[in-house]
Amino acid sequence: MKFYDVPDAYDLFFSENFYVECMNFYKEIFAKKKYKDFYDCAVGTGQMLIPLAKMGFNTTGSDINVNMIKKAKLNFAGKNLISNLQVCDFRSIKEKIKREFDCVMCTGNSIGHIKNEELIDVLASMDSVLRPGGMIYIDSKNWDSVLQRKQRFYLFNPLVRDRGRVNYIQVWDYQKDNSILFNYLIFEEIENKIVSKRQFYEIYYPFAISLLLEGLKELNYQNIKICKLGDVNQTDIEKIDWYSITAEKPIDEEIPETKERKRF
Ligand SMILES: C[S@@+](CC[C@H](N)C(=O)[O-])C[C@H]1O[C@@H](n2cnc3c(N)ncnc32)[C@H](O)[C@@H]1O
Repeated sequence: MKFYDVPDAYDLFFSENFYVECMNFYKEIFAKKKYKDFYDCAVGTGQMLIPLAKMGFNTTGSDINVNMIKKAKLNFAGKNLISNLQVCDFRSIKEKIKREFDCVMCTGNSIGHIKNEELIDVLASMDSVLRPGGMIYIDSKNWDSVLQRKQRFYLFNPLVRDRGRVNYIQVWDYQKDNSILFNYLIFEEIENKIVSKRQFYEIYYPFAISLLLEGLKELNYQNIKICKLGDVNQTDIEKIDWYSITAEKPIDEEIPETKERKRF
């Protein structure tokens, strides 16, 4: 079964502490910006947009998966937060989303779900609803480093609850077509007995960070910054396993006359 079809399982390992960390990080990356309207085009269950709503910003989110959007609606409502949430493939933003934002985000390692050859189109799709002077924000696993190390296992700290705990392990299978099959194993123990086991999968298409940077430059984005997700002071990409990229869209007068901004 696909992981994103079961949002309750996806949400198990997020906590209030995660929101606090996110808010601290956002305060730093959006410092000095007067942004009000944020849009996450791969919002999932809302885990990385909820912190922005908690900070008082206007939030909009979309996702290709209807189950994730249904759960995002419950998550926002459960926290008395308001957000505009809908189903949309981030390759179709231009046709489906009829307004502009100060910041367009693709959070939580989502952009790696599309094939490398579609990446530039997704950037253009995000750009189509971003105001001049606004910011694109993307966070992603550092796939260059993943491919170098060929890591196979990714372990999470257990979630202690009731009389037992829930364990979560990812096993990554490297495929011949260069994709990686992520297997998600979630099992629960109560009083030292395993009482439930669940197994899910999703597919990622690793991409070089240079591809993302080239795409942003092709769209004339400026002030492109990379840091570790959660730590603006760590900017050495060799030491980063999950990065955030921010890039600013020029206001029209700033576009060099020789270059036209490329759109769809
Ligand atoms: C790892 S989850 C991240 C969700 C959320 N951003 C977070 O940080 O918790 C990846 C999300 O990307 C969504 N996704 C994958 N392909 C997509 C596409 N083409 N358009 C929109 N969303 C997509 C999935 O449905 C899933 O909800």
